[in-house]
Amino acid sequence: PLTATVNQRDHLEIGGCDVVDLVQKFGSPLYVLDETTLRTTCRHYRDAFVRYYPGASQVLYASKAWNCLAVCAIVASEGLGIDIVSGGELFTAIQAGVSPTKLYLHGNNKSRAELEMAVASGCTIVLDNWHELKTLVAIAAESGSNESEAVAETLPSLLPTSHSPLPIRIMLRLTPGIECHTHDYIRTGSIDSKFGFGLDQLDDVFKFIVQQPSLELIGLHAHIGSQIFELEPHHDLGAVMVQWLSKAAHYGLSIQELDIGGGLGIRYTESDDPPSIEAWVKVVSESIAAACNAQNVPLPKLLSEPGRSLIGSACVTAYTVGGQKTVPGIRTYLTVDGGMSDNPRPITYQSIYRALVANRMSAPIAETVTIAGKHCESGDIVIQEADLPETQPGDLLVVMATGAYNYSMASNYNRIARPAAVLVNDGEANIILQRETYQDLIRQDCLPERLKTPHA
Ligand code: LLP
Repeated sequence: PLTATVNQRDHLEIGGCDVVDLVQKFGSPLYVLDETTLRTTCRHYRDAFVRYYPGASQVLYASKAWNCLAVCAIVASEGLGIDIVSGGELFTAIQAGVSPTKLYLHGNNKSRAELEMAVASGCTIVLDNWHELKTLVAIAAESGSNESEAVAETLPSLLPTSHSPLPIRIMLRLTPGIECHTHDYIRTGSIDSKFGFGLDQLDDVFKFIVQQPSLELIGLHAHIGSQIFELEPHHDLGAVMVQWLSKAAHYGLSIQELDIGGGLGIRYTESDDPPSIEAWVKVVSESIAAACNAQNVPLPKLLSEPGRSLIGSACVTAYTVGGQKTVPGIRTYLTVDGGMSDNPRPITYQSIYRALVANRMSAPIAETVTIAGKHCESGDIVIQEADLPETQPGDLLVVMATGAYNYSMASNYNRIARPAAVLVNDGEANIILQRETYQDLIRQDCLPERLKTPHA
């Protein structure tokens, strides 16, 4: 959980910084990311694997939760690798100085350009389907000439002088057929999923890969869903993955790595009670170790890909309270200066958040209100039922645990500029994402010449 305190001015303080001062200096709304919480969580994961898994392990940060230069740099400096899912995330991680040997490219429809970029960078590619597999074989066949202009253009400064050596390190994503209780949109492990090779396809895939000298199958991957509070699905996943690792060996493929994905849930409200990182790591580790033991296969290197549980609790979003509207006998709406463009999770998944008033921390709870965003949609509600002290315009409302899938899913709906993000640590605050300006909003706009005449 976040390292936050209340200071003598009765203000919320995070990373030694008064949140009211931060908003005065950097504007509103504002993402406030606590470096200590992020680093501590990275260490919890790392240390738990060292403690519970008898073999080698590597934690990868699932950067789809929040991908930007500073976040990539912090997690990499904690020894984590990074799960990337597009050319854009790959580009950002490399620009942040992360070694490609610690990058794993996911995605269920990587373009040819993205695959070429991945090959050129030397990262590991997690193949999702036959189409990608065949495309990659074709790219490898053209290798040498594969530093195509498209790649050279995208990666001006980061292309290694000679591209990475063959064979290309690949993993296979499989659909393990494991159900878990979470929102339908973020459930990925069941048989009916768009992600990964079905288990029925794997034998053919193994036979094909054995014949490809340009590819080295180093691992298997699966990810069953997100915001999961149960431990059994991950326990079951371990057994399925080891079973396929052992099957691959029959085809002469010696697989050294298993990646069990991410998915551990976090606490958004009082009623959420997720397992600890330790408990999750313990279950995952024991399940893989036990299955290896039972099937008499050597322990693989164990990879995991937490996103939400690494960064979710490390950030809050500060908003400024605007007007109120009371609908007699029904509810009071309290409006803030952001909403679904900086946090699309409530409208997308009906996610529930908790908020507090950061400039009057000890004020008693007085009412239950609905916190509305400022977008032109009735569904743009930040929190349906928030228990708050009495508020007035100008108060600072802080929504907790917004580190995961907020900034990364933010949009410019209604041409609202994305907020700034500030990294706090030991009383110091550094901007890590600049607030967008109106100029930024029209940066990609083009006005055809014939439309340039002034309009009456
Ligand atoms: N690995 C893979 C292959 C994934 O697809 C994901 C998440 C993760 C790891 C990280 O999962 P986590 O530890 O964060 O649960 N936008 C949704 C969540 C989508 C998750 C997509 N994949 C939300 O806001 O709830």
